[in-house]
Amino acid sequence: MQTIKVAIAGFGSVGRATANLLLSRRGRYSQVYGADVRLVAVCGSRSGLRDENGLEADRLDNLEDALTGPDFIAASGADILIEAGPSDFRTGGPGLAYISSSLSTGRDTIVISKGALVHSGRQLRELARLSGAMLKLSGAAAAALPTIDLVHHSLKGCEVLEVEGILNATTNYLLDAMTTRGIGFDVALREAQQGGFAEADPRNDTEGWDTACKLLILANFGLGANLTMDDLNVQGIQSVTTELIEAWRREGHVPKLVGSLTHLNDTFRAEVGIRTYPLSDPFANIRGKDKAIRITTDAMGETIAIGAGKEPLATAAAALKDLEHILTARASSPLAE
Ligand code: HSE
Repeated sequence: MQTIKVAIAGFGSVGRATANLLLSRRGRYSQVYGADVRLVAVCGSRSGLRDENGLEADRLDNLEDALTGPDFIAASGADILIEAGPSDFRTGGPGLAYISSSLSTGRDTIVISKGALVHSGRQLRELARLSGAMLKLSGAAAAALPTIDLVHHSLKGCEVLEVEGILNATTNYLLDAMTTRGIGFDVALREAQQGGFAEADPRNDTEGWDTACKLLILANFGLGANLTMDDLNVQGIQSVTTELIEAWRREGHVPKLVGSLTHLNDTFRAEVGIRTYPLSDPFANIRGKDKAIRITTDAMGETIAIGAGKEPLATAAAALKDLEHILTARASSPLAE
């Protein structure tokens, strides 16, 4: 049986959920892929733990100070890194150093945080190309809602002409609560924060940045575009008032914050803003913190997916779906034992 060593950098709620889910699925990995998957290192911003024989769940509450950073991960001998740190698209965040180091040494890398992919996507793709490492990012591209996998697998071979996505749970929750329960923006936002899905700085959600990040990652990594944040017109929902909601309601229209992309003659145009939908449109019925994507292709017409996973489990599961993609690819590689 092949031993596959996994490390996790970023050990907040998503990193921990990923560690626990991975440990609970070790039997599956050995049965389905013939792989002895071991969690050999975890680290947060200040502390970590490493054991080349594999860490068990009961040790993950006792991290040791100063065991952190890309060199700590490299020394663990991990074959695969899962990066789950805080996201900052303006700087790349702490994930950038981990991901760069991992890809440049040929380590297959699963990215959950969006920041580095938005900030330095082109460079990271190039590092992966040069070293031959696999770079997977379902967790960063709307997680439980399939986006990248839809275009890479389900719609393979088709040309994507248009994408429309409700990609941010918080703004959908806010607009839905304001529309169906008549509550105000601030009250709805507090509920989203209590629910644990709003960003630490909720302006990243309400001003449209989180939607823009996910759209940009899908465009660049899924469709081969080369967009930067400066190419996108990004509008949020911060100026939506109860009066505006009421006016849309009277017209029978439901507002959604939507990331949209059109692809024509090798040119991609993307933007984020409010669109309103009649009740007959499936997008009008995406409720609460659910998300959805509609992809129009040349040969398969319109495909819609709706996702309703619960955080942090759903994001962990999206990252571990990528782990299984990597295990599948490794198992069919001529270098596999
Ligand atoms: N704050 C995000 C959302 C979750 O509301 O969808 C992380 O992407």
